[in-house]
Amino acid sequence: MLPIEIKKGVYWVGGIDWDLRNFHGYLTQRGSSYNAYLITGEQNILIDNVKPHLFEQLITRIEKIIDPRKIDILIQNHVEMDHSGSLPKLLELNPKAMIITSPNGEKGLKLHYKKEWKFQVVQNNEQLTLNNRVFHFLHTPMVHWPDNMVTYLTDDRILFSNDAFGQHISSSERFDNEYPIDIVMEEAKKYYANIVFPYGEQVKKIIPVVEDINPDIIAPSHGIIWKKHIRAILKEYKKWSANETVEKAIIVYDTMWKSTELMAYAIMKGFENAKVPVEMFNLQVNHISDIMTSLLDSRYICVGSSTLNSNILPSVAAFLTYMKGLAPKNRHAFAFGSYGWGGQSIPIIEDELKKLKFDLFPSIKEQYIPSEETLDKITVDIQKLIVINKTKKC
Ligand code: FEO
Repeated sequence: MLPIEIKKGVYWVGGIDWDLRNFHGYLTQRGSSYNAYLITGEQNILIDNVKPHLFEQLITRIEKIIDPRKIDILIQNHVEMDHSGSLPKLLELNPKAMIITSPNGEKGLKLHYKKEWKFQVVQNNEQLTLNNRVFHFLHTPMVHWPDNMVTYLTDDRILFSNDAFGQHISSSERFDNEYPIDIVMEEAKKYYANIVFPYGEQVKKIIPVVEDINPDIIAPSHGIIWKKHIRAILKEYKKWSANETVEKAIIVYDTMWKSTELMAYAIMKGFENAKVPVEMFNLQVNHISDIMTSLLDSRYICVGSSTLNSNILPSVAAFLTYMKGLAPKNRHAFAFGSYGWGGQSIPIIEDELKKLKFDLFPSIKEQYIPSEETLDKITVDIQKLIVINKTKKC
């Protein structure tokens, strides 16, 4: 439970949530951390905090540096409770402390906690000199809530980016040169796909600002701190926010009696024959948040379900609902599935894909068990379709 000094007088004092496996529906196999940062001096300043159940971790780390009852300023980059959940206890210890936040941050915190705390609201691009250090506040609305801002400590060149550039990783290592970078990048991709994806337009506005200030350190509020690989993560954020896709297909399905699965594999062969990499996601064994990671840069999305009680299978409904909320754009897609007599699953899936304004290919629908000939035809048809469309951009 030690703090870590990241630059002189600037400490990581966050909480590590080793047991976290569900972050509002997102499977977090590696747990997470809620990174809080303490800046000491004439005034002691805490940037963000931790979920309530990790308050003791936060306090134990702060105690190694200062008396936790001597915090003067609480900079709140974001209202969501993973970063503000310890505010009530921190303000019980420090009733005179001032909260510095965005206008929407003040509104959100008042609505969350219903307390008469002291606020100082900062506008976009506003700078304050505290402790002889210049703090530059930049609003980043919708990355991830309307209240979000980032704080740049100008002389130390540290960008406290809150949710942006985060990853759900619990670890005793803090920096990107200490932890396997391929895992950090994969978790950053999963984080973007499941949290930031709907806000690509807002992210696009932030990237040039970050490039312009050229920080030495990007200190997010989840996971590993960026120091060595800042250029690499900015490059990925540019691609993701531009909605860039590659020639890759994902086939997402659930199946009652394996007929829809037979179709899924016939479709897979079609993509393979067309030399398009493909990933299979049986919803009985895959989590929707892992599927989103793959979907982030996939050009083709194929969704299959058997028909059950004039409807789709519940796992497919959950996937479609989750995907719709994350609002991917500009993909090719189609529905497929086996049915007994009604066949309603296909139009139901198609309707959902239409709502996302995907470019729809003809659906594939088979009654009961598809024959070998039918499966071969599916493969050939998909291969032809993909070869024709391969050069087309959505
Ligand atoms: Fe990590 Fe939007 O909170």
